[in-house]
Amino acid sequence: MQIEHRPDDYREVACDVLAYPVFEEDVSGSSLDSLNKTTRGAVKAVLGSGEFKPELHRTCRIFKPAGLKARYLLLVGAGKKAQFEPARLRDIAGTSVRSAKPCAAKTMGFQCRGEHPAGLASRLAAEGALYANYESDIYKTRDKEQRDIETFLVLLSSKAAQADIREGIRRGIILGEATNFARTLANEPSNILTPSQFASRALSLASQAGLTARVMEQEEMEKLGMNTLLAVSRGSEEPPKLIILQTYKDTGKKRTPLYAFVGKGVTFDSGGISIKPAEKMEEMKADMSGGAAVLGAMVALAQLKPRHPVMGLIPAVENLPSGKATKPGDVVKSYLGKTVEIINTDAEGRLILADALAYARTLGASHIVDIATLTGACVVALGHLNGGMMGTDQKTMDRLRSNCRITGEGLWQLPFDDEYRKAIRSDIADIKNVGDRWAGAITAGKFLQEFVEDTPWVHLDIAGMDLDHDGRPYSCKGATGFGVRTLVQLLE
Ligand code: BES
Ligand code: ZN
Ligand code: ZN
Repeated sequence: MQIEHRPDDYREVACDVLAYPVFEEDVSGSSLDSLNKTTRGAVKAVLGSGEFKPELHRTCRIFKPAGLKARYLLLVGAGKKAQFEPARLRDIAGTSVRSAKPCAAKTMGFQCRGEHPAGLASRLAAEGALYANYESDIYKTRDKEQRDIETFLVLLSSKAAQADIREGIRRGIILGEATNFARTLANEPSNILTPSQFASRALSLASQAGLTARVMEQEEMEKLGMNTLLAVSRGSEEPPKLIILQTYKDTGKKRTPLYAFVGKGVTFDSGGISIKPAEKMEEMKADMSGGAAVLGAMVALAQLKPRHPVMGLIPAVENLPSGKATKPGDVVKSYLGKTVEIINTDAEGRLILADALAYARTLGASHIVDIATLTGACVVALGHLNGGMMGTDQKTMDRLRSNCRITGEGLWQLPFDDEYRKAIRSDIADIKNVGDRWAGAITAGKFLQEFVEDTPWVHLDIAGMDLDHDGRPYSCKGATGFGVRTLVQLLE
């Protein structure tokens, strides 16, 4: 999709669909007078007849509107002005794209409205357009449902600084593409996206983006004693990979702050010997969504060039049962030296993260954020609206939380009292990999904490946020790419 800025008046823009956001306040006010006059009353007519109410994401198409060079005028409900947060602008830009697709539109214009600064508004519109244009039916050889929009024009008044708008669109394209790229990875079935394939895609993307990249192989993991990670991949024929990405070159000098993003990369989670029930097991192909978010964010950051250096680590494994698989009750010694009793082989995410987190510290990370589809308990607690957030770095958590207005990715901080650690005490080893029935998201976090020790750290549990089962007005069903924008915004 081509995205360009048009400073012109919407009346002059020739396109298949011209999308125009309408606020609830517009119905009684005079702000639509000019559009109404141009279209010879068509806008007030649909508002007056009750055919269209400007509730968020409701739309109405007017064919061959008078006074416009567009084939359709698309009115898009933008809700209440006071609630028009940055994330809403992104979403209605997306709704506009998805409503234009059935009109066989190739070129569309989107009128930016609201009070957001021009740079931010153009970024959000571009991001939303790309996100919405994406389709997850990658393996359909025919009957693809929706055609892509080829050109998206961001209409913003010429009074705004041109340079800001151009830069906004550039950033929006980088973020939109990085998010879609993470979605593609998570949508890939596990027979295609094996740990090796994940690693080779990471390497080729990294070289395009100018990231320093390396993949640690099983042999080196064995030498380093990464036995919690290796315990998870033991049952699989697919070798494990630890993908390591950096926005900087190693020069030996210490960098602070140095953020490390660590993403869970389980390309398929069958549960292992503690095997999962068959129902919905196919969704576990997306159990590498945290890793995909880290890769997407790193590729975006390589282009956005933030002030601080960042590294990304993705332990990539497949969790399967077999004659070689780890069994409940097995004890392994982690890279950090702590021993772990593996009670449940389905609590595998924390095992691979344990070694990756400890290794991030070895590489010099001063701050760590991990992101993982870690626990069903988190979905029970928060549903599909917010990811769970916990950890020891309150400053970073505060920033992550306040960035939600812009990213549109909900995060909710969970309590993290020391006492929760009791649940993972083991009789035979230093700790065990599961607690009892209660507070499963938090006790999983407590397990991870053992491996970051005193490094300021945040854990994001995105189980429940990685997949969208229903589709939305601004996006298709399937992987959401959740976390890419959150991680990038943290460094902006
Ligand atoms: N990958 C799952 C968590 C998950 C559940 C992700 C639902 C997305 C949607 C994870 O590896 C897992 O199986 N966790 C177990 C932990 C339990 C055995 C302590 C769970 O949540 O049931
Ligand atoms: Zn599992
Ligand atoms: Zn898992």
